[in-house]
Parts: sequence; C-alpha cells; structure tokens
Amino acid sequence: MDKVVVVNFGGQYAHLIARRIREARVYSEIVPYTEASPEKLRTLEPRALVLSGGPASVYEPGAPSVDPRILDMDVPILGICYGHQLVAKLLGGRVERGKGEYGRTLIEIVEEDPLFEGWNKREFVWMSHADYVAEVPNAKILAISENGYVAAYRVMDRPIYGVQFHPEVKHTPRGMLLLKNFLFRIAGLRPTWRVENLVDLLVEDIRRKVGPGEKVLVAVSGGVDSTVTAALVKRAVGDRLVAVFVNHGLLREGEVEEVLENLKKAGIEPIYIDASERFLKKIEGVADCEERRRIIGEEFARVFKEVVEKDPSIKWLAQGTTYPDVVESGAVVGADRIKSHHNVAALPRWLGLKVLEPLRSLYKDEVRKLGLALGIPEDVIYRHPFPGPGLAVRVIGRFTREKLEIVRKASRIVEEVLKKHGLYRKVWQAFAVVGDDKWVGVKGDKRSVGYIVTVRIVESEDAMTADWARLPHAVMDEIARRITTEIPQVTMVTYAITTKPPATIEPC
Ligand code: XMP
Repeated sequence: MDKVVVVNFGGQYAHLIARRIREARVYSEIVPYTEASPEKLRTLEPRALVLSGGPASVYEPGAPSVDPRILDMDVPILGICYGHQLVAKLLGGRVERGKGEYGRTLIEIVEEDPLFEGWNKREFVWMSHADYVAEVPNAKILAISENGYVAAYRVMDRPIYGVQFHPEVKHTPRGMLLLKNFLFRIAGLRPTWRVENLVDLLVEDIRRKVGPGEKVLVAVSGGVDSTVTAALVKRAVGDRLVAVFVNHGLLREGEVEEVLENLKKAGIEPIYIDASERFLKKIEGVADCEERRRIIGEEFARVFKEVVEKDPSIKWLAQGTTYPDVVESGAVVGADRIKSHHNVAALPRWLGLKVLEPLRSLYKDEVRKLGLALGIPEDVIYRHPFPGPGLAVRVIGRFTREKLEIVRKASRIVEEVLKKHGLYRKVWQAFAVVGDDKWVGVKGDKRSVGYIVTVRIVESEDAMTADWARLPHAVMDEIARRITTEIPQVTMVTYAITTKPPATIEPC
C-alpha cells in the first residue's frame, strides 16, 4: 500500500492535508516534526512526504526543523507554507519577513510543470503567511503571487516542491487537483486505498505491539469510536480483550440496555460496572464544568484501576481517540487546548498501562466506514457522538440530580422527535441543556416558575466546525411542546443558533 507521511509543524491545516490525500485514495498519516528523523521516517516506508505549514518563522532560534537528510530520502516531497520555506532554507535559499498575504490571492503560473497540470495560467489560491522565500535554492520558480512573492518552486532535477499557498483548503479551488498531480503524476502513486483496507493494517499493528499472554483493556461506551476500537482489538487478540462498560449515572435514558445489546450484536460482551452512585455523589453541587470533567476522569481511572488490579495480565489500554480529540485537547504541536476530553488525558498514567490508539489519525466519517467494514451494526455506526463525561457537560452551573433528570428526559424527547421525522441521521448531534435561569410560566392557570431548556441540534462533518440545523418549524414546535408538557419543571424551550466556532458544540 502506498503511503504518504505528512510531517506536522503545528499548522492549522496539517490534519486536512492527510485527510485530502486519503480522499484521493492514498493512505496518509501525520508525524510530528519532533519525530521525523530520517531513521524513524524510513521505518514508515513513505512513498512521498509532505511538510506542513506552521506558526513559527524558519529563521527564529529554536524554530521547528527537521534533519536535512530527509530531503535525500529519494521520495518526492511537497512543502506547504512553512514547509515550503523550510525546504528552501535547508537547501540554501533565503527566507525573509514580507508584508503578508492572507486569504484569497491571485497567482500566475510562470513555468509549466506537472504539478500545475489542469490549472489555468492565473488562479486564485488561499494564502496565510508573513514570511516568504526571498531567494530560492537551486530551484526553478513555478508561480508568482500578485504581490510578487514566490508562490511555488521546484528543486532542480529533483521531485521536491514548495508551494506558499494551501492546496488542502477548499478555498483553493484547484487545490485538490494539485495534490492529485503531486500524488499521481509526480510520485507515481496509485489511488487504491480505501478506509476499509486499514482493518488488516491496524489489526496487525495491535498484534505486533501486544505480547503473548498480555490482555488489552477497552473502556466501551456504546459509541462508534470505542466499539470500533474494541472490535479491532478483538480481531487482533481474541479473548485477551477485556471490554469494560462503566455506568457513571450520566447516561441517556435507556442507554445501558441499548448499549449492552448493541455491543452484543458487534460480538463484544463487556464487564458491566454500575458505578453511578460513586460518580454522582462526587459531582453533586460542583458548579465548574472543567472541575466536573476532572472528577469524572479521575473516578473513571479509579474504577479501571480496580479492574486492572484484579487481573495483572492486563498490560494495555486501547482508547478510541480520534484526530479531532487529539487536536482539541492540545496534544498537537501548536494547537490550543479547548476542553479536556478525558479520553486523551491522564488515564494511562494512572493505570500504568501501555496505550494503543488505533484511530488516532482518523476522522469520525472514516471511523464509521471502518466500523461498517468490521461488520458493526448500523445502529452503533450512526449513533450520535456522546461525550465521555456524559450528561454532566450538559448541565450548566451547579450540578444537581434534578437538572440531570431534566436534561435526560429532554434529550430523549429531542432524539425521539428527530427519529420519528427521519431526521436523526441527517444531523451530527441533537440534545438538550439546562442551566439555572428560570422563566415564569403559566400552567393550568397557575403561575409556575420553571427551568429554561436549550435545545442544540447541529450539523457537522468532523466536530471541528458545526452549524445549527435549520429544522422545519413543525418539528421544533413538537420538540418544545413535548418538553414543556412532559417535564413539569420546564417552562421555556430555546434553540441554540450559534455555529462552532465561536461556540463549541457542547455547552461546557
Ligand atoms: P465541542 O463541545 O468541544 O465537542 O465542540 C466536539 C465533539 O466532542 C464531543 N465531546 C467529547 N467527547 N469526551 C468525548 O469523548 C469528552 O470529554 C467530550 N467533550 C465533548 C462533543 O459531543 C462533540 O461531538
């Protein structure tokens, strides 16, 4: 299988590069620049390399760099933005601070090259840079921007390219074509990869890592990520999989039974631990949501520790971490920590287990395809994502059991109405949130002061960005009526109409 390695210098769009390459049906994975030594890269056997963008300046002391020997690895290389500048510098060119180009920019192709096959002489591209290549190394300039900066070059007699713009973003209309030209015309790769091909590769990787007699713990939640992880581990090590399903008391209505049944259909029979009282006692009255996340993460670790202590042959923890979790938890160079998604946090350190994260470089839609290839039932595959800390992140302000019951009931209503109208699978997530604000109501001629429930229904491709769902008014009306009728403590239903960004999907 042809593989392209994307070396990440902390660029905002690095993850997109790998995703686009996989969309072009060539397998691609990301390696942080700190781990991109020629020796390490060679073990990955890439057929081409892409060097990503990044926030630094190549001439700053301590700026991210790589061993220049990777340029002699005899594979085609494409440097993008920071990567374009770094390659130029490593080969003896010069990089300087310019006046900056941001957003839609016109470039002119000045030299014909297979990289630009199918491009017009002048095209719009998406730029985001202040530094520029002031002097190319021993290379031919292929394109120049409307401001006179080098927009693309090719190193003389070698398949090494730099582009200052971002071909991986949709705002560069012919960007995908450029990437395909690089992959197919320049690197001579074949578009044979499908996400399904990953099954054998991931299973093989788990087998290689897990020693004979060693068991692998997987915390399953019934969601697609952990179910796919457990299914992969099961394929790799059979009954040395120890799947554990913890009920933290923050699940949706009917979820325990549903999850156990779904897992059974997927061939996984977990140890079920009802720890709801333990969790709820600890978070009752806690107003700060990050604090609740921390407590829940810690309590999960305790529960798992008890499991591990009972069975010393458990040596590994497999987690269903996907790429957006990694980015948003700040585990990627240059990315800010938005929320402490506990699945990538301290669990393994607590447990003293080695970690497997087979889905780490994948997006949700890719995990879903993988799950279908593994024969996991569609009910699991198309279940909406549900945060690890459960309904605890859908209660704003002081956590109380009353508010928990309100979001639990309201969320069920939201899901039921969407399913009834065939809309459930069309949206990314749909749930209810409750805070402390009250609204005066009149129920049966009596004044009643009740909670405000906010309904959040979003569309998204990968949870990195999201838009609120424009639902038919009749459906919204049905949701609002059922919530105020069936949950006596609620007098007002509102609808959340802010995109991500600036908001996140969950309230906290
Ligand atoms: P936000 O709210 O950050 O959420 O826009 C992005 C996606 O991640 C889910 N989410 C979590 N998933 N553990 C998880 O496994 C968590 O702690 C967590 N917090 C948020 C959220 O539901 C959305 O799909």
